[in-house]
Amino acid sequence: MPTKILMVCLGNICRSPVAEGVMQHKIEKYKLDAIVDSAGTAGYHIGEQPDERSMANARKHSIDISNLKARKFSDEDFKKFDLIYVMDANNYNDVLKLASSEHDKSKVDLLLNISMPQKNQAVPDPYYGNEDGFEKVFQLVDEACELLARKLFK
Ligand code: 4NP
Repeated sequence: MPTKILMVCLGNICRSPVAEGVMQHKIEKYKLDAIVDSAGTAGYHIGEQPDERSMANARKHSIDISNLKARKFSDEDFKKFDLIYVMDANNYNDVLKLASSEHDKSKVDLLLNISMPQKNQAVPDPYYGNEDGFEKVFQLVDEACELLARKLFK
């Protein structure tokens, strides 16, 4: 059975689509038995493509996320996914509100706790900032996904 990974942010247009695209790239690179998806805790952008700036920045790193469409996180996702990685503390609290068991809760962690264990660091929301914020997101997400891929590599 593949390990099923879900990346979660607020809008599912800036950070988590990059995390999905980067992790998908690692899955292919390391031929991992895993699948990855992404979702947002808010429904503002349902059905939309990722933010132009996220798509452009990912493309700079040869990752195409233009086919992704925003969707909202739901309690059903606890049944479908084994690992749920959130970008910040607000996402963490919003996702945990929909958990119905300790088992559900145990699936959820901040993505950057992979690269900076127990520091509870956020992937900063780049939405209201400039291009630098999008490159920062890419670098943080890439480092965490590389380590996750190595953990999953048997
Ligand atoms: P994301 O960024 O959570 O990384 O997708 C945001 C996208 C949209 C909004 C906020 C953050 N918004 O307020 O619409």
